[in-house]
Amino acid sequence: MSITYREDNNTGFIEFDQTDSKVNLLTAAALQELDKILDSLAPAGQRFLPQGASLPAGKSLPAGKSSLKAVVIVSKKKDIFIAGADIKEIEGITRSEEGLQKAKAGQDILNKLEDLAVPTIAVIDGAALGGGCELALACQYRLATFNEKTRIGLPEVNLGIFPAFGGTYRLPRLIGLPDGLNMILTGKSVDSSKALRLGLVDRLAPQNGLDHYLNTFIEDIRQGRIVPDKYARRKTKGLASILEGSLLGQWFIFQQSIQSVLKNTKGFYPAPLKAIAVIKKNFYLDRTKGLDVEAREFNELAATAVAKNLIHVFYLSEQYRKLNVEGITPKPVEKCGIIGAGVMGGGIAQLLSYANIWVRLKDINYEALALGVRSAAKLYRDAVKKRRMKPYEAAVKMDKITPTLDYSGFADTGIAIEAVVENMEVKRKVFRELSAAAGGQTILATNTSALSVTEMAGETKDPSKVIGLHFFNPVHKMPLVEIIMTAQTSKETLAGTLALVRRLGKTPIVVKDSCGFVVNRILLGYINEAGRLLEEGNSVVAIDKIMTDFGMPMGPFTLTDEVGLDVGSKVLHILEAGLGERFKPVEIFEKIYAQGFLGKKSGKGFYLHQPGHSGSVRGVQPNPAIQPGHPGSVRGAHPDQEEILRRMLYVMINEAARCLEEGIVDAPGAIDVGMIFGAGFPAFRGGLLRYADTLGVSAIVSELKRLEEKLQAQRFQPTTYLLKLQENGKRFYSV
Ligand code: NAI
Repeated sequence: MSITYREDNNTGFIEFDQTDSKVNLLTAAALQELDKILDSLAPAGQRFLPQGASLPAGKSLPAGKSSLKAVVIVSKKKDIFIAGADIKEIEGITRSEEGLQKAKAGQDILNKLEDLAVPTIAVIDGAALGGGCELALACQYRLATFNEKTRIGLPEVNLGIFPAFGGTYRLPRLIGLPDGLNMILTGKSVDSSKALRLGLVDRLAPQNGLDHYLNTFIEDIRQGRIVPDKYARRKTKGLASILEGSLLGQWFIFQQSIQSVLKNTKGFYPAPLKAIAVIKKNFYLDRTKGLDVEAREFNELAATAVAKNLIHVFYLSEQYRKLNVEGITPKPVEKCGIIGAGVMGGGIAQLLSYANIWVRLKDINYEALALGVRSAAKLYRDAVKKRRMKPYEAAVKMDKITPTLDYSGFADTGIAIEAVVENMEVKRKVFRELSAAAGGQTILATNTSALSVTEMAGETKDPSKVIGLHFFNPVHKMPLVEIIMTAQTSKETLAGTLALVRRLGKTPIVVKDSCGFVVNRILLGYINEAGRLLEEGNSVVAIDKIMTDFGMPMGPFTLTDEVGLDVGSKVLHILEAGLGERFKPVEIFEKIYAQGFLGKKSGKGFYLHQPGHSGSVRGVQPNPAIQPGHPGSVRGAHPDQEEILRRMLYVMINEAARCLEEGIVDAPGAIDVGMIFGAGFPAFRGGLLRYADTLGVSAIVSELKRLEEKLQAQRFQPTTYLLKLQENGKRFYSV
């Protein structure tokens, strides 16, 4: 049982409280329960009353219900109204008519709610997302609490679908076309004060004394102090409402939305474009026809591979975001030390202070310290400029970072993170110093990209306290963190580090200490392959375009320009030393690096980065000093576009299989999370290894063998792991 109905003081309460679950979901079963309750309030067959608070002639509530003042929908769960539909049910849609039936069933029930001949109120105290938000939209009124956990939104596009319980019909009518489109197309949720500003809720109330505020709200409705028609309540103002008021303006808003979706998704994600097409139709239709359009188009989307892939990625990210060590509850970190105030140290300091952790930031001279402090301050300034923070909040957080030239203040830190230059000698020295300066409780972490954590741990008194904590650049944006375990890292150290990462809002994968860990190892192999293709006569722009057409956010050369050729070259050398010949930087990279083309930071790399050049492949000039090698210079290599793509992808898949073979990670999910959140592998393809599964292991093995033979290149030799999968007829995700 998840929904109960009771009456109190002539008010009906529909209470959601899903048994055996922390959250309420709008499952098919829950919808059936709701349907029964609604039928008891207005028996089936009786036409319901649309919108009005008072009953017109001929309409009546069933006997016994006519004295009801209002029907209120509430949740008995803490911080949750209704968290959404059941994703498992969406995942289960495989036949084409199934999506249509599901959408129609939900729509019909929410229509019944909307048409009840009595004022209906959703009391939102916590998350009202997806189907939960759509249920609230079907009510005549919405009251939200100031609870900071109150979030309202329609995140369906993140799962490759769009809201189909009336959300595309009701939201743009309620809050206006531009804001409605924006919420549906981005999937972003809003807090209660933004919801009030948008007109998404009618009133806010504190959690304390909520009953009292609800009674006042009901009284105001009864006394006619609130306009009964929800769509007539919005006070439109500003340019948006002028635009929205005319057909031409509406056309303009739709065009703008299409352009912004195409810019953000490059057209790879069908759901937001479909959502626009639906709203473009149903904005001009009555409810019956409008909802019919919504359900039919939803049906088209729900069974697509993109939707299934995005649901897979959603599950993975939920799983990894919550990683912990069972049975250990670490003490929360209150203070942290950072050594090295460079690009990464400055970024990490800002991230920690943002999470209200005190930071001691150490470097070797004032100039270096100033750089780190300045870069953290800039991030706060930008957040204030974009109105994501109030100036005083930014100031309070920035004050948590204190610079230092020595280790004073490190003794009582919960964790110290080393982010000095990528040089083993320097890092060893720092770990020796840290081991002496830190307290017995301090976790000693390194942000190294590729070096041995075990070797650093060897310099300390207690190697069980040493762990790798590899953030990605830029720290405040990149969601992934690689956590690197040595053979001696203790469970307590891991638990403390995972707890910190969760608090910082990052997604961790746990990897075994090994050269390059996972993401850099796979990514650098791919970039080196791109270099080989350049040597074989293919142009920088053509290679980059093949990868962006595949869905990567940028091609391998644009990426290298962003990261810096110096950084790339250094990591490749470390990988070559640790993993062998296949990582030997291609000659053309070494030559370009030697010429001083470092990428964006030096103004020139594979592309020219003078002011005015945006950094994307389109419209950016390649550096004329970089010429591809001669076609035919490598024996047998005349790849067409398909083969170029396959070479770059299959090198990654083979390396990923090697990581699994060596036990660097324990599951394909860790690789997919790493590559999506750390390297931008397209989520709509489900991740590198999920994509590999769609290609089929046998097809990959035979193509690798063909390439090995054709190019006489050992790097394409299929790994034992792949061969075993093939032998056993398995896929990466079926092990
Ligand atoms: P950086 O060169 O910008 O900064 C290094 C800082 O360490 C400099 O401010 C330097 O003065 C300082 N430093 C050097 N020796 C020191 C010592 N003994 N004590 C205190 N400070 C010292 O380097 P970046 O890029 O921030 O990299 C730092 C670490 O993070 C490296 O291990 C790198 O591999 C890793 N990393 C870098 C990424 C990037 O994209 N830049 C991404 C992920 C990891």
